[in-house]
Amino acid sequence: MNNFEFFNPVKIIFGKDQLAKLAVQIPANKKVLMIYGGGSIFKNGVHTAIKDALKNFDVVEFSGIEPNPRYETAMKAVELIKAEKIDFLLAVGGGSVIDATKFIAAAVLFNGNDPWEILSKRKPVKAAIPFGAVLTLPATGSEMNSGGVITREATHEKFAFSSPLTFPVFSFLLPDAASSLPKRQVANGVVDAFMHTMEQYMTYPANAPLQDRFAESILQTLVEEGPKAYANPADYEAMSNLMWSATMALNGLIGCGVPQDWAVHMMGHELTAKFGIDHARTLAIIAPSHYKYSFENKKEKLAQFGERVWGITSGTLDEKAHTAIEKMEAFFQSLGVDTKLSKYTEEYKGTAQDISKRFTDRGWEKLGERQSLKPSDVEKIVEMSY
Ligand code: NZQ
Ligand code: ZN
Repeated sequence: MNNFEFFNPVKIIFGKDQLAKLAVQIPANKKVLMIYGGGSIFKNGVHTAIKDALKNFDVVEFSGIEPNPRYETAMKAVELIKAEKIDFLLAVGGGSVIDATKFIAAAVLFNGNDPWEILSKRKPVKAAIPFGAVLTLPATGSEMNSGGVITREATHEKFAFSSPLTFPVFSFLLPDAASSLPKRQVANGVVDAFMHTMEQYMTYPANAPLQDRFAESILQTLVEEGPKAYANPADYEAMSNLMWSATMALNGLIGCGVPQDWAVHMMGHELTAKFGIDHARTLAIIAPSHYKYSFENKKEKLAQFGERVWGITSGTLDEKAHTAIEKMEAFFQSLGVDTKLSKYTEEYKGTAQDISKRFTDRGWEKLGERQSLKPSDVEKIVEMSY
């Protein structure tokens, strides 16, 4: 096992009728900006419940955070915060709203030219205003981590950042609020959580059996409970299990002391930036090709994944590993998630070369758990995903 540090300060408040506890999580003298997306929180009662809970607070609202949140929109919130002298943020919605809130919290206090540099130049965050989250969509894990992903519309760039200063102070996890999700978003959530687990697990054996079994238990739970939540988003028990699995998949725990990959996410982000494809779907497009292309590096873990998650008992190590990739792809497809780029756009030709060039231009020359994937490998993987 590798050396590691683990720090996660996020207080989780999970379940039904929990928003009555919201007011006591926020210091009484704070002026709050409630940040949300396109209005789903008006349909599932969350907006009303929050307004009731915060009736003794001065609350200003900022709506219109997009899926794949835009830098341009976030900067409008930054202006509002400065004008209104806001000193606490409350993100209400899915990963996009929480990610945008993290960026806004850091951008308000950014001491430099342009807060975009936090993303494009990885300028460190030196201060951020505190914020909490109310999660209505199980998927990203943003509710219990310190990372965010922001898109710049003007340049079609999508970059991630993280900082110890951008953990939420608290997160309410509301499986019942997720009952209003369209099935497509539930499928996205299952796939995103699955792939977060895989990025920290599908590498090479590192003699970390506890982390392996944490990861495998999340994957097994997603395979069992994900289809139930997809079939019926109002199935509270299934949605609860999906939501907690998604949170645990990316709160830092399962990645302690083990090699990590993240190449699927890096390639996937380019597909969202270029074509606007939902984040999770980009992962479903890239992952099977990446695992086939990187087979020799990953086959021990692929076979273990086959045995322990999919119950594959017969065949050689290579056969088990290949079957495991097929099972994963079939699982995504069973949730209505297509796994080929050409199913999403007719304009796919040239994508592989374009992404590989972008990686070269940015100096992203060493991807994957062994730092062995070059832009030329990225080109081949993306081409295999057409
Ligand atoms: O905007 P509203 O009206 O709220 O509608 C949203 C949005 O249209 C809707 N929604 C959310 N909760 C709902 C609901 N609709 C009905 N009922 C509810 N209860 O769902 C749509 C998608 O929301 P979004 O927040 O975009 O989805 P998700 O949570 O999947 O977040 C995706 C974003 O997170 C980033 C992705 O790149 C993408 O930008 N990621 C963030 C990560 C992190 N911070 O750790 C890691 C991930 O790998 C990921 O990259
Ligand atoms: Zn993801």
